[in-house]
Amino acid sequence: MFEHLKPQAADKILMLMQTFREDPRPAKIDLGVGVYKDPTGLTPVMRAVKAAEKQIWETQNTKTYTGLAGDPAYADAMIDLVLGGAVARERIAAVATPGGTGAIRQALELIRLAAPQATVWLSNPTWPNHPSIIRYLGMRMAEYRYFDEATRGVDFAGLMSDLANVAAGDVVLLHGCCHNPTGANLTADQWSEVMALLKARGAVPLVDIAYQGFGDGLAADAEATRMIAAAAGECLIAASCSKNFGIYRERTGLLMAVTRDGSETALAQANLAFLNRQNYSFPPDHGARIVTTILTDPALRADWEAELDEVRATMLGLRRHLADELRRLTNSDRFDFIAHHRGMFSRIGASPEQVEQMRAEFGIYMVSDSRMNIAGLNADSVPILARAITSVGV
Ligand code: LMR
Repeated sequence: MFEHLKPQAADKILMLMQTFREDPRPAKIDLGVGVYKDPTGLTPVMRAVKAAEKQIWETQNTKTYTGLAGDPAYADAMIDLVLGGAVARERIAAVATPGGTGAIRQALELIRLAAPQATVWLSNPTWPNHPSIIRYLGMRMAEYRYFDEATRGVDFAGLMSDLANVAAGDVVLLHGCCHNPTGANLTADQWSEVMALLKARGAVPLVDIAYQGFGDGLAADAEATRMIAAAAGECLIAASCSKNFGIYRERTGLLMAVTRDGSETALAQANLAFLNRQNYSFPPDHGARIVTTILTDPALRADWEAELDEVRATMLGLRRHLADELRRLTNSDRFDFIAHHRGMFSRIGASPEQVEQMRAEFGIYMVSDSRMNIAGLNADSVPILARAITSVGV
């Protein structure tokens, strides 16, 4: 049977990770996959995570199954972190998932069960795995404009004009904060306008929030998601703990389904548990337990928030440094958008040929659409990157 398999297109982000590993040049710079690195190039285990793991190791006396939805304490802690009380708890069905990708996958499967004809609208561009999963599930898909190549900001007029075509019952996928891959984000006023439009169209928001705490702070980064959850009758929210807890390989995510008035919560919850059972049965627990331990222990939580603040400050500092360096080299403010973008990524607007030239000549790796991971930089590599950007003529 295996001879009938078709080759699958490799994910461009993961392919880049592999090419980087195989490059023997010692001075190579990895700005590819979205993983935080400290100034020494290490993706550290956060202090609170280490402490929570120690606590779990000392106190955990069983590894028997949790529930199909995962540990309810994890869902409660995460709902509080993401939604901060914006929606009554009885309106929220939630399941633990393997990472944020697992939450996106389960969200799409739930949509397929409830509304198989719904079109899922994606920002252009978006994280490449969004369209990939939707295509794999055989669902309908459409795009809305998002990025203005000229300003490297949001093409808000284009976005609003495209979302005006959304049909009742369609799903609109929104990046809650720190847009991946562009780094360009909506203002609070623009979010309100988008939400009013989606409401008028009768669309269901699906929020992907994978970088809470990486933009302007834990609460600030959740503001749009909270506003949407409060304003939309129904919505879905896929949250990831990979980045803000630095527990990438533990695969820790949560899918929330906010129901209209609570009367459908039990039904949504049962369907989410069913989907977990079909796909992998019980969700992974170790990462979820780390997160719950941290969020429910005031001292651990304070330490985690402090370290997350440091991570965010490092990234903001690198943004400022790179923008200043490019200002100096180009004698213009053309690259100031780098300092205004938020999160791990910025799309700098280089052509695929220029991206390739930076890889070949300078050993600098970024995704072919010119998305770069700001956290892959440090004080030494910023000037090298700035020179490379100007030398290839971006
Ligand atoms: C990224 O966009 O680089 C991350 O979300 C990692 C991934 O799985 O693609």
